[in-house]
Amino acid sequence: DQILLLNGPNLNLLGQRNTKIYGQASLDEIVNKVEEYLKKQDYQLISFQSNHEGELIDRLHEANNSCSGVIFNPGGYTHTSVALRDAVEVLNIPVIEVHLSNVHNREPFRSHSFIAPVAAGQILGLGPLGYLTAAYALMQILDGKG
Ligand code: DQA
Repeated sequence: DQILLLNGPNLNLLGQRNTKIYGQASLDEIVNKVEEYLKKQDYQLISFQSNHEGELIDRLHEANNSCSGVIFNPGGYTHTSVALRDAVEVLNIPVIEVHLSNVHNREPFRSHSFIAPVAAGQILGLGPLGYLTAAYALMQILDGKG
């Protein structure tokens, strides 16, 4: 089984950007950990990051045919994108929304997520650990234990 790890805008800059909020780890380091973890349970990770809304939508559509689930950090699009919400809504596979930071103790505009109502669940404020937590949750859901 394949799982898509999808990261949205500016997450390519992890480790350099606002390190007080987002931590020191680079996206590659995070992806490698998730990949290793999933591999042990016989899941293959497909990782994709884009700064472009349409590319993220295309990947979600593709995942519907090729993947069992998605771990998705939509970055700033979380708070703005009806189009990404619609793309998640039509999927037949579970999507777990992840945020590194606790979006509820930051600027008020970060508290609202367009994605949350159509996601299987939301994990936030745990830093890179949130991606591993999402991977665990997704495998449980796919095993019928979610
Ligand atoms: C983020 C939170 C968003 O508000 C922000 O725009 C990001 C990262 C997070 O992982 O904490 O780009 O999704």
